[in-house]
Amino acid sequence: MTRLIIVSNRVSPPTGDGKANQGGLAVALASALRATGGIWFGWSGNETDEFTGQINISKTHGVTTATIDLEAQDVEEYYNGFANRTLWPLFHDRIDLAEFERGFAGGYERVNARFADTLMPLIAPDDLVWVHDYHLIPLGSELRQRGVRNRTGFFLHTPWPVMRLLLSLPSHRQLVEALFDYDLIGFQCQAWLDSFMEYVVSEFQGVDVDELGTIRIGDRVTRVIACPIGIDTQDFMASAASEEAESARLEMLASLHDRCLIIGVDRLDYSKGLEQRFHGYERLLLDQPEFQEEVSLLQIAPPSRAEVVSYQDIRKQLDALSGHINGEFATVHWVPLRYVNRGYDRTSLAGMFRASRVGLVTPLRDGMNLVAKEYVAAQDPEDPGVLILSKFAGAAEQMTEALLVNPYSPEELSDALAQALRMPLEERRQRHRALLKSVEREDVHWWLRTFLDALEQDRTEPEQDG
Ligand code: G6P
Repeated sequence: MTRLIIVSNRVSPPTGDGKANQGGLAVALASALRATGGIWFGWSGNETDEFTGQINISKTHGVTTATIDLEAQDVEEYYNGFANRTLWPLFHDRIDLAEFERGFAGGYERVNARFADTLMPLIAPDDLVWVHDYHLIPLGSELRQRGVRNRTGFFLHTPWPVMRLLLSLPSHRQLVEALFDYDLIGFQCQAWLDSFMEYVVSEFQGVDVDELGTIRIGDRVTRVIACPIGIDTQDFMASAASEEAESARLEMLASLHDRCLIIGVDRLDYSKGLEQRFHGYERLLLDQPEFQEEVSLLQIAPPSRAEVVSYQDIRKQLDALSGHINGEFATVHWVPLRYVNRGYDRTSLAGMFRASRVGLVTPLRDGMNLVAKEYVAAQDPEDPGVLILSKFAGAAEQMTEALLVNPYSPEELSDALAQALRMPLEERRQRHRALLKSVEREDVHWWLRTFLDALEQDRTEPEQDG
């Protein structure tokens, strides 16, 4: 079996003997690495005074990780800067928050070059190299410039923006040209792939595209696929049915005093639409007062990227808004909104999802959104909760039996909440059955196989070197 090298900004090796604290992605990548004897390469998360290129190799539960430390300036310009103050907002349609500083772009190039320099000696001739996400778009190109000829794939976990927005990035052409150095480029859904193709066809002359997604520009050949990521569905279903999850569910139910639980779980990020979600809930309580004291919204939102100002701002806004909603509606016996700024392990979350009547997943823009899939997998099929899902999440292409909403509209959110809370048992079961089918079929193992098969497949094609 061909050895796999995975590269991502963050490296999450398996922890302890349980999988409770790990996302399905980390679990699936770890098992692919174990099977092929591969390496997971990335940033250690540590800062150093001066970049040395020293690689820290360790083996945890059969998975080899290789990490490097970065200088404080690298972290500022590459991670807090170009990745999270330029590309992240731009790729999530928040051009108002995007900052186009040359220093950020320079730091991004420098760190990608440093990744390439340190990774290169670890790559053997037959390895498959798979690079993940917006932090590392130029890495494939940096490796090619250093003579790496291995099959190299890239997967984007975020959306790809519409052309009109991408054009505001001064280095847009350079960024996209770097992608052509990969053999395969994966997107979460068709909508992001279409935006990418719209840009490519309009920006580059003489592009030739076939029905398999092969793109030829001069002597360069690459291929694009839409390949939605999934969760480890069987594993998550088992967690949700475990004793530990059951006690989390019972504890939650005891705290609710027969009220219906509406739940949301998101990183504290402006792309998640939390402000709009709170306004939608407020609208429900205002327009349909019969729900007052009958429901409770639990929003779990662990802080994220706290050094970036736009994240500090959204946190302040949500602190104020949650206080306002509770001040407006709470009684001595009822708190309408429980807003919690910390994370919980996956098993407890599974139990809480199972205790709820409604799952609210309403990002303004999202590459995929795995919480929507975890919510479905956690439900008791006999008495399932209802998923309310944003039309603007990649997951909406697959999860059409959810209540799909425009997350910007407080009225649509409020109507969907009322519909979900009143939905008859039989309709809840039918919708859940259909959703679970797709979450089971297109799980994380399917995603991994589909992408890697496509990356390997082309190996048998004649060399396209010009
Ligand atoms: C998104 C990105 C990931 C990133 C994660 C957490 O899902 O697509 O690449 O790792 O957010 O963000 P952080 O900045 O904490 O790594």
